[in-house]
Amino acid sequence: MSVPPRLALRGDLLDFTQDPGLDVRQPAGVRFRADHWLLVEGGRIVGVQAQDPGEGWQRVDHRGRLVLPGFIDTHVHSAQIDVIGAWGTQLLDWLSTHTFPAEQRMADPAHAAVISELFVESLLAHGTTTACVFPTVHAVSVDTLFAAAQSRGMRLIAGKVLMDRHAPPALCDDPQDVPGVERVVAAQIERWHGQDRLAYALTPRFAPTSTDAQLAMAGRLLARAPGLYLQTHVAENVDEVRWVRELFPQARSYLDVYARHGLLTERAIFAHGIWLDDADRAALAQAGAQVAFCPSSNLFLGSGAFDWPAAQAAGVGVSLASDVGGGTSLSMRRTMLDAYKVQAGAGRRVTAFTLLHAATRGAARALRLSDEIGQLEPGAAADVCVWNWATAPLAQRRQAVARDLHERLFAWLTVADERDLVETRIAGVVQPFRR
Ligand code: GUN
Ligand code: ZN
Repeated sequence: MSVPPRLALRGDLLDFTQDPGLDVRQPAGVRFRADHWLLVEGGRIVGVQAQDPGEGWQRVDHRGRLVLPGFIDTHVHSAQIDVIGAWGTQLLDWLSTHTFPAEQRMADPAHAAVISELFVESLLAHGTTTACVFPTVHAVSVDTLFAAAQSRGMRLIAGKVLMDRHAPPALCDDPQDVPGVERVVAAQIERWHGQDRLAYALTPRFAPTSTDAQLAMAGRLLARAPGLYLQTHVAENVDEVRWVRELFPQARSYLDVYARHGLLTERAIFAHGIWLDDADRAALAQAGAQVAFCPSSNLFLGSGAFDWPAAQAAGVGVSLASDVGGGTSLSMRRTMLDAYKVQAGAGRRVTAFTLLHAATRGAARALRLSDEIGQLEPGAAADVCVWNWATAPLAQRRQAVARDLHERLFAWLTVADERDLVETRIAGVVQPFRR
């Protein structure tokens, strides 16, 4: 699994140099370099060229295949691989019926290690090379997750889930001992933040499961070291929003609960954001925070339709996320298609370019990591996924009749599946995974 010193990947290279907008069929910023060579040295991209670089390079011929920056999943729960497809409920009932029991099992270090390994392997098996992950409240769930990513050289953002009320006692930090919890999290930051390609995120689950004192603690810790992230949920479900209004009557809105505790920063990732208003969107844009749009989860849990055009118009960064296990697949390709369907259902259109941008460069920019991930640009890490344009006869037929790049990409998003993923590379290195 070592990186060849000089690697050249041949294929159809697609990435973005600027935001392609929401519904422009031929936008600026789409960079499609058919049959080019991606040159990689020491795990980093050093160039792209049409000519064969010659003998001095380990050449890998993916001619006729699609080479993309590795996908970025900006919101996903590792322990919830055990509850994907849990039947029958909306958010609050789904949490207590399915999710909290599964998360309690992560107290067991052996279980946590198995789940973390399988989770990270499964990200790679879907072409995802970077993720922002909620493990559970257990320190061991964080340690095993970071270890699984570190052993593969992956860029991963995660942190201990914070909860100190309205959850089973086994999942709650002691609300009487905020300093004790603060010490635990501070020690984790010390241990993991900035190690190799790992970054720590303060991770209050959502406003209802944290006291004001715990949210204030998260704000204190967030200010402690540069580059720390904040991840949480906001305005996902109407019952949840009503509950937050009851619990925090002094806050102007759900988002304002977080803002009041210093959690609205340029490295904040808010999942869902379906039931935001214009003032919330303006606050997000001003802070430089992002919304992680989680379409398969929103469909599955019946949460509602995220208003992407409103977010875009307000200048809010929008990324895409699987939100497994509320979401039904770790596949960012399926997530993109679901995002299209959610927007279509609300009478809006987004292009294949919008979707692919959001899952690569758009997310990287929102995470302030655009120098490192999300583009096939010299200096970036060679985190890539390589896909067949089509394998099954039907998919081949669909590609054959596609008239332009957009139609080819949109048909690929729609018809391809994980069998079409040829390989996933982290810093140039092919990652093993089971299919
Ligand atoms: N809100 C609070 N916790 C969760 C979770 O685990 N999944 C989703 N979809 N929403 C949440
Ligand atoms: Zn979530």
